[in-house]
Amino acid sequence: MKYLIAANWKMHKTVAETLDYLDKFLPAVKDLFTVDIMIAPPFTALASASIKLDAAKKEGAYNVHLGAQNMFWADEGAFTGEISPVMLNELDVQYVIIGHSERRHIFKEDNDLINKKMYSAVEHGIRPILCVGETIEEREQGITLKVIEKQIKAGLAGIEMDMPFIDIAYEPVWAIGTGKTATPEQAEEVHKFIRELIHDLSKGNDSKTRILYGGSVKPENAKNLIVKDHVDGFLVGSASLDPQKFYKIITEVLEV
Ligand code: 13P
Repeated sequence: MKYLIAANWKMHKTVAETLDYLDKFLPAVKDLFTVDIMIAPPFTALASASIKLDAAKKEGAYNVHLGAQNMFWADEGAFTGEISPVMLNELDVQYVIIGHSERRHIFKEDNDLINKKMYSAVEHGIRPILCVGETIEEREQGITLKVIEKQIKAGLAGIEMDMPFIDIAYEPVWAIGTGKTATPEQAEEVHKFIRELIHDLSKGNDSKTRILYGGSVKPENAKNLIVKDHVDGFLVGSASLDPQKFYKIITEVLEV
């Protein structure tokens, strides 16, 4: 299985900044075929990024994929402010991040809504990355694995057999944007639990599913995390905003 190193830019970068980033980043990574790279800019920059990535593909950069940070489940309708999978398909978006902790906590997305989005993404051929993770209170109460199990079972309800077309990101809420990273051992414990759970849920059909770690990943801690057996890549926030730092994380992974 190829590692997936994904950039979640969150609400950062204009169209001009996106294009400038890609101009710097794409030539550096276009020959790194042993990893999958995904970049998720804001919705407003997807169209321009899509054109740029299409041109880069013609130069051989097949390993860099476009992702969206969110989507709604319906194809169209009276859903003010939302973006549909049909709109993402039109821009050749290949991945979509679903159920990110900021969507769950700031925008109050619940497991039911997340499941509908997951189902819709799979149906439309956009590979979803289902994000799960516990809060610091949940970790301190010792219920981390229970929380993860509930989020995964609810998020995947009805699409367990589509596991080959789904990736999972474990992002402890307390590690996102805080500079605090899970230790490699903490990450591995949860990743191993997720692997066993999705193996059971999909009746062993999980060999194409990557389990990414996210939460303050940077060039300095990437290697210690990726060497763990069940860490299959990263979902990177702030360190992915700088093309050099993101590139460095990718090269750390390649050295393993
Ligand atoms: P940071 O890397 O900024 O902690 O963000 C992680 C994240 O939320 C990626 O989706």
